[in-house]
Amino acid sequence: EKGTYPHYMLKEIDEQPSVVRKIIQAYENEQGELAIDPAIAEALHEADRLYIIAAGTSYHAGLVGKEYFEKIARIPVEVHISSEFGYNMPLLSEKPLFIFITQSGETADSRQVLVKIKELGYPTLTITNVPGSTLSREADYTMLLHAGPEIAVASTKAYVAQVAVLAIAAYVEAKSQRIEVNFDLKKELAIVANAIQSIVDSKEVFEIASKDYLSTTRNAFFIGRNIDYCVSVEGALKLKEISYIQAEGFAGGELKHGTIALIEEGTPVIALVTQKSVSLNIRGNVKEVTARGANPCIISMEGMEQDGDAIVLPQVHPLLTPLMSVVPLQLISYYAALYRGCDVDKPRNLAKSVTVE
Ligand code: F6R
Repeated sequence: EKGTYPHYMLKEIDEQPSVVRKIIQAYENEQGELAIDPAIAEALHEADRLYIIAAGTSYHAGLVGKEYFEKIARIPVEVHISSEFGYNMPLLSEKPLFIFITQSGETADSRQVLVKIKELGYPTLTITNVPGSTLSREADYTMLLHAGPEIAVASTKAYVAQVAVLAIAAYVEAKSQRIEVNFDLKKELAIVANAIQSIVDSKEVFEIASKDYLSTTRNAFFIGRNIDYCVSVEGALKLKEISYIQAEGFAGGELKHGTIALIEEGTPVIALVTQKSVSLNIRGNVKEVTARGANPCIISMEGMEQDGDAIVLPQVHPLLTPLMSVVPLQLISYYAALYRGCDVDKPRNLAKSVTVE
């Protein structure tokens, strides 16, 4: 039930701190250390390459998952859109492990890939929010998201849960391989939960930002580099699906290769700046679009903020920023949809679970 909330989406955005805390508990062993099912650990260990298969927001979580498995656990990863992979399979490695990310566990595009992969005899893992769902039943292994039912069509807390579970899988795998990991994920996730809490507690900031940047525009760009780029495509999808504003997420450096031609007087460009290693580059990209008339909204993080940044998020571990930086993007999309009188929880032409190919 949505209780006193006007929309499920807002309720589900607010639930995100507790979802992160619940996941920490769900993946803790008796010693209080993060742990995963030993059979899944073994499957990750055996694999020479992971193939992440997903659609929509779950695909965007997979892009972040690739960063985790490669950077933390040193396993090569490919991320594929289910509807493409099924009909155009790439060359596979010798010992692939297939990971299906799906909130509902019912997405037909993802299931058709699972069916084909099972015929080929490769091991499969489903990461889903719904125990007993089709993709959970049909895969060899399941990891649950523990996000609670997600009712709004636009996925919010499931994305955060997916990213958190992927981080845990990569981290536990790295530890079991005795790969040096120089941070305590459990502690860092707790910090993230508090950071998200402070963001959802200051909703007016995002309501104002949304009004300033999005209330009348026809289009909007989200830009970022590296892991911020992964989040920018998710921010764009949120805005498209509930507010019907045409939006795209771009890698900052790619703008000059064509897209910058679209910048007009007043075009909103929402830039994520949470990664120190590329902060100068992305700020340079913001200058380029601003010089051509864009209306920039910089979302940065404590410790790397500058005067003029529209929003400064609390500091979290650099690899975990997607869990937090997606939240302002969810909120500004939510308010943009409200200003425009859109049906936030049930956007036109969309269904919560897409059971046709
Ligand atoms: C976006 C959204 C969709 C789903 C996609 C996959 O907010 O909800 O893009 O992410 O249809 O659905 P699942 O994760 O259930 O396989």
